[in-house]
Amino acid sequence: MQASAELVAFGQKHVAKGLNHLIEEVIQSGQGSYVTMSSGRRLLDFTCGIGVTNLGHCHPKVSQAAADQCLKMVHAQCSIAYHEPYLELINCLLPVMPSGLDSFFFWNSGAEAVEQAIKVARQATRRQNVIVMQGAYHGRTYGAMSMTRSKTIYTEASAPLMPGVFVTPFPYWHQAGFPPNVDEKTLVDHCLHQLKLVLSQQSAPSDTAAILIETVIGEGGYVPAPKSFLEGLRRVCDEHGIILIFDEVQCGFGRTGKYFALEWSGVKPDLMVFAKGIANGFPLSGIVGSKSLMDKMKPGTMGGTYAGNAVSCAAAIACAKVMQEENILQNVEARSQELFAALHKLKEDSALQISDVRGQGLMVAVEFGSELHSAADTPAASLKGVANKISTQCAENGLLILATSVFEVIRFIPPLNISKEELLVGMGIFEKVVRNVLSSVNTKA
Ligand SMILES: Cc1ncc(COP(=O)(O)O)c(C=O)c1O
Repeated sequence: MQASAELVAFGQKHVAKGLNHLIEEVIQSGQGSYVTMSSGRRLLDFTCGIGVTNLGHCHPKVSQAAADQCLKMVHAQCSIAYHEPYLELINCLLPVMPSGLDSFFFWNSGAEAVEQAIKVARQATRRQNVIVMQGAYHGRTYGAMSMTRSKTIYTEASAPLMPGVFVTPFPYWHQAGFPPNVDEKTLVDHCLHQLKLVLSQQSAPSDTAAILIETVIGEGGYVPAPKSFLEGLRRVCDEHGIILIFDEVQCGFGRTGKYFALEWSGVKPDLMVFAKGIANGFPLSGIVGSKSLMDKMKPGTMGGTYAGNAVSCAAAIACAKVMQEENILQNVEARSQELFAALHKLKEDSALQISDVRGQGLMVAVEFGSELHSAADTPAASLKGVANKISTQCAENGLLILATSVFEVIRFIPPLNISKEELLVGMGIFEKVVRNVLSSVNTKA
C-alpha cells in the first residue's frame, strides 16, 4: 500500500478537478460514527457522507444483508422481472409512507428520482412547467440542476438548461428579503403571495405541472418549511390540479426525528422523492405516489439498467428493520435535544456571532451573521468564509462537519444512532474551533 501522501498526490493528478474535497486525505475505512484515513487519523463523522450513512458506517446488519444478497443475486434487472428484495422493500416501507402513497419506483440517485417525479407530473398533467424554490438543491444532472437554485456553481457555464422552470421564494428570511427576526406568518404570507404572482404573471396554472420543494431545504441552509407554507402549497395545488412533489432525499428516513419530515406538518404531497439514508450508503433512490397517479405512466416509460438494484434493496430492507429494532427515532429525539441545548448555549455568547440555531431532529444548522444580512444588522463582512474555516479546522481537529449554502451556515448531520458520548466529543471540538475562528475574526475586525 502506498503512503498516504503518495495516494493524495495520485488523486490530485488523476481525479477530475471538478470534484471538490473537504479535505485532501484518503478515507480507508469507516465504522459507526468514525472514519479512518489512510494516514491512520481517525475522525468523528458529523457528515454521514452528506446525510447518507445515517445508521453509522458499515452497520453490521446492513453490510451483512448486502453481502448475503451479493452471493444470491446482484443484478436482477427491474425490467426483466420483479425481484424479491424490491418487493420486500416495498412491504417494509408501506407502513411508514404517507397514507395513500403506495406505488413505488426505485432508481439509483436522488437526482434521477427527482427527474422521474417531474416526468410523472408532466405526463399526468400534460403540462410543462415546474415551480421550484429559491435556494433549492435537487442534484447535478441536467434536469435536476435546472431546478437547483442554491448556488450558481451547479449551473454556471452549463446553459441551456431544461426550460419551463420558474422560481418562487422559500420561507427563509434571506431568500424572501426579510430581516432574521421576521415572524413566521409575515414570511409565509409573503412567500405564498409571491407564488400567486408567479402563477398569474409567469407560469399559468394550466401550464404548471408541478411545484417541487424540499420539505427541509438542505444545500440552501437547513431550513424546515413551515407547516403553514406547506399547507398553502397544498391548497394552491388542489385548486389548480398541480402535482405537489416533496423532495425528502436529504431530510427523509428518520433524519428529522420522523420517518419523513412531512410528518411534522401533516401535509401530504402527490409524489415524494427519497434516497440517501434509505440504504445507508448503497445507491438507491425512489419515488412514491398514489397508484392512480403513478399508473398514468405507460409501461416502458420508467426503468433503468441499475434501477432498484437488488443489493441496494437488500441493504435498504435491513435499514428499515434496524430503524425499528434499534429504536433509532428515540435516539434522534434524545440526541437532538442535547445538540440544540449545546448550540443554544453557544449562541448566548455574543462574541461567537451565531445568528440562528435551527432544524429538526438531527438535521440542524448554525448560522453565523453573514454579509447578506439586511443592512440594519449587518455584522462585519469579515465573517465571510467563516463557515468554511470552521469546517476545515474541525477536520484538522478530528471532526468532519460541513458548511452549506451561500450564507455562513454549518450543518450537523451526525449518525442517527450516535451515542451521547460521541455527540459530546464532537461538540467539544466544534466549540473549541468556533471560539478559535471567531476570536481571530474579531481581532482582525
Ligand atoms: C434534497 C436533495 N435532493 C436531491 C439530491 C441529489 O441527490 P444525488 O446526489 O443522489 O443525485 C440531494 C443531494 O444532496 C439533495 O440533498
